[in-house]
Amino acid sequence: MRPEGERDVDAAVKLLAEVTIEGTGVATQWPFDLGARARTARDALLQRRNVGWVALDGHRLVGELVVFEIDRDEPEFGMIVAATHRRRGIGAALLEHAIAWAQAAGKPALALRVFPENLGARALYERLGFVEVELQRGAVARRDGPPRDALIMRRPSAPG
Ligand SMILES: CC(C)(COP(=O)(O)OP(=O)(O)OC[C@H]1O[C@@H](n2cnc3c(N)ncnc32)[C@H](O)[C@@H]1OP(=O)(O)O)[C@@H](O)C(=O)NCCC(=O)NCCS
Repeated sequence: MRPEGERDVDAAVKLLAEVTIEGTGVATQWPFDLGARARTARDALLQRRNVGWVALDGHRLVGELVVFEIDRDEPEFGMIVAATHRRRGIGAALLEHAIAWAQAAGKPALALRVFPENLGARALYERLGFVEVELQRGAVARRDGPPRDALIMRRPSAPG
């Protein structure tokens, strides 16, 4: 596991494509333009608007967590783990890096959006101290149907 760098971006976007094709957990929809996505992600990393970590199995990138717009008080993150590598603690380890980063950066909290039916991801977040804040109905636009609900969760950096 290491901080995400420029060299990781193409593999991370390829992993996002794989997870997106599953069609369940992430808001990004397939198909999307991998090249454009990689350019946007690379620019955000280089300009330090985003920060991320990647998990590797040998040379293969099998997990990624990105905190977006890190100048916000309560930045949001997104994360993906390869289907072949789930339930091995990779997601939890990535998230622990993000939580430690938020604390070190003096952020009051870290937040995320999750589809309410994504019970696996919700279980992970709850286990690491995230609590449900708000259900936003119809917040996630879909190309192929009605918008989906999003559950906002947050984890305060300091207890209480
Ligand atoms: C959600 C996701 C990132 C979890 O990654 P992971 O590496 O499998 O998670 P971990 O192995 O670290 O899980 C840690 C704990 O979280 C909970 N958990 C994770 N996935 C779970 C699942 N599918 N069902 C129930 N609990 C789950 C469990 O408590 C698990 O501990 P355990 O395996 O000892 O029971 C991964 O399933 C994924 O990429 N899914 C598709 C994309 C996605 O949904 N991203 C999140 C968008 S908000």
